[in-house]
Amino acid sequence: MAATKKTGGLAGVTAGQTHLCTVGKEGAGLTYRGYDIYDLADNASFEEVAYLLLHGALPTKAELDAYIITIKANRGLPESLKTVLEMVPGDAHPMDVLRTGVSFLGNVEPEGDFSNQSKVADRLLACLPSMLLYWHRFHTDGVRIDTETDDDSISGHFLHMLHGAAPKELHRKCLDTSLILYAEHEFNASTFAGRVITGTLSDMHSAVAGAIGALRGPLHGGANEAAMELISKFDTPEAAIEGVHGMLERKDLIMGFGHRVYTTSDPRNAVNKRMSKALAEDAGNTTLYPISEAIEKVMWDEKKLFANADFFAASVYHFMGIPTYLFTPIFVCSRITGWAAHIMEQRADNKLIRPAADYIGPDLQKWVPIEDRT
Ligand code: COA
Repeated sequence: MAATKKTGGLAGVTAGQTHLCTVGKEGAGLTYRGYDIYDLADNASFEEVAYLLLHGALPTKAELDAYIITIKANRGLPESLKTVLEMVPGDAHPMDVLRTGVSFLGNVEPEGDFSNQSKVADRLLACLPSMLLYWHRFHTDGVRIDTETDDDSISGHFLHMLHGAAPKELHRKCLDTSLILYAEHEFNASTFAGRVITGTLSDMHSAVAGAIGALRGPLHGGANEAAMELISKFDTPEAAIEGVHGMLERKDLIMGFGHRVYTTSDPRNAVNKRMSKALAEDAGNTTLYPISEAIEKVMWDEKKLFANADFFAASVYHFMGIPTYLFTPIFVCSRITGWAAHIMEQRADNKLIRPAADYIGPDLQKWVPIEDRT
């Protein structure tokens, strides 16, 4: 048998080209179409970043105003989709709800040829929060919410539907920034899954449904929920230090730490940490932030592992009153921008993605009729 070179998880393998993003290279270590993530987090709105990713350049004021109107006009859900969301059980995982919602939308609003791809992307961006929160509020509060709120921003729309009232500006702004941080990340697992599906010339809904499935796992987007579960286990920083030491001794995986590409830090963490601290002060909560910081310190001191984007995002969402099981779906509401941009980029210069494998199974076997098998 030929000698094989192990490329476990395709680590370090370059699998294509992109105009969209650099990870662990220029600037702070994350750029979208050449813009540093810290410039975007400090100065842009999520809609500006969505426009940048989906339409190729930062919008002018007039373009942004028009884009916000377009997104607002696309928030409504077809009646048939509302019926489907009501039929999905209330205890389903919300990532499964979104996967089903996107898939169903592909039935009632099929993409057809690809000439409308940018409109399909905008439609998904606008209506994913509506799908999620229509299902959530129907099953938790028994209400059929109006998903066409008057909020200009996607972050305001999300929190308004969740809480039934327009959010305070600190919460809206922090969610907006979090959506910017999660929007795009080069060839991460879900984006790559979406590009593989796109490479067969399939439709955008199929590619996005597949990407949602990939993001759902705890090694990818599901880590923010797992991080919240971890932080909530402890009442004091001292208990957290002891608990995490014990977990490391047992070789448990600590969710929200480590990264395939970054080696010493995840640039998104500094922004999330700052927001978590501000929100904790605003909420008068004196435990969650110090507990999170204590865990972060143990992980660095003991394993030289740093908090990734998911770790402090957990407390950020918690302080806004977002239930933990809705954390990963927020990632979807943001990453739809990166996914759709990659789908369009893949189509622009498409080649079927079909790698080879080194065979490590048995040598060629002689066929044995069933009656002769032992
Ligand atoms: N907690 C404890 N140990 C960890 C760890 C974590 N979060 N992340 C990595 N390690 C350890 C591994 O156990 C491994 O140790 P070993 O060499 O003794 O076996 C070593 O660090 C290398 O990790 P590995 O899993 O091979 O790296 P990877 O590049 O395949 O995985 C992640 C990257 C992100 C999947 C991994 O760090 C992880 O599982 N993190 C937790 C989940 C998470 O936060 N995901 C969100 C990513 S943005």
